[in-house]
Amino acid sequence: MAIAMAVLAMLLLMMMMMKTLDADNTNGLYQPCGDTKIQRSDGFTFGMAFSTKDSFYYNQNQSHQLSPCDRRLSLATLNSQLAVFRPKVDGISLLTINTSSFSPDTYGGYMVAFAGRKYAARSRPAFVANSTYIVTSFTLVLEFQKGRLQNLYWKRDGCASCSGKSNFVCLNKQDCAIRTSSCKNRGGSVDCSLGIQLAFSGTDKHLMALNSWCDCACNRRWSFNIFTIQSIVDLQ
Ligand SMILES: *[C@@H]1O[C@H](CO)[C@@H](O)[C@H](O)[C@H]1NC(C)=O
Ligand SMILES: *[C@@H]1O[C@H](CO)[C@@H](O)[C@H](O)[C@H]1NC(C)=O
Ligand SMILES: *[C@@H]1O[C@H](CO)[C@@H](O)[C@H](O)[C@H]1NC(C)=O
Repeated sequence: MAIAMAVLAMLLLMMMMMKTLDADNTNGLYQPCGDTKIQRSDGFTFGMAFSTKDSFYYNQNQSHQLSPCDRRLSLATLNSQLAVFRPKVDGISLLTINTSSFSPDTYGGYMVAFAGRKYAARSRPAFVANSTYIVTSFTLVLEFQKGRLQNLYWKRDGCASCSGKSNFVCLNKQDCAIRTSSCKNRGGSVDCSLGIQLAFSGTDKHLMALNSWCDCACNRRWSFNIFTIQSIVDLQ
């Protein structure tokens, strides 16, 4: 009985904490294909599309990349998948995508992060996996100006994080990859879930600096969120 009460009290406390967290939010846009302006402590919704590299370009023209929100890409009719995330702006966030039932290589093997419609921003396509290799660790920077998302880009460390680790290979001098055959759902023992570390830069709508980059120098409370997407929805 006492334990049940304690559990109940804890649940209530957690619900109250979540409500408080949500109370900080002023951004009412909950889907990636729309325009908004954010301030520190808002939630911000963006999408991650998985498809072939070519499918992110207009008429496969590699100098004309469109946002996955743009219907000219017709991603919906291709073999594509979409994950939607809502991290807290300026917090430290690690997004995870569980690959136990989702194999990126069966959906073209590349991913693009995106948000916005009139003010559409998208990252370059990043290689995730093919039948031989899978890259499981990424850092994505979301750059805002006056609260409007301007750019999303992948920050890479030139394979520094995996140098000397025998089960990793360095692809194109930028991505630490492991053999797809070492993954749990492919007969191996490694959990090949994708981890995407987020960083925020630029300014919010009150021109306050977003810089989850700097750590101890900034006298600020960090929030650390882990998002796990278990079902990945089809792109509409
Ligand atoms: C590819 O797109 C660029 C930029 O939109 C354009 O200048 C170029 O003519 C296009 N190339 C082809 C082959 O259509
Ligand atoms: C991924 O999902 C599987 C099956 O639902 C589960 O057993 C596993 O623990 C999950 N992995 C992570 C890292 O959440
Ligand atoms: C997988 O990608 C790697 C790195 O880009 C490449 O070297 C390799 O040939 C690819 N394998 C297949 C089967 O496409």
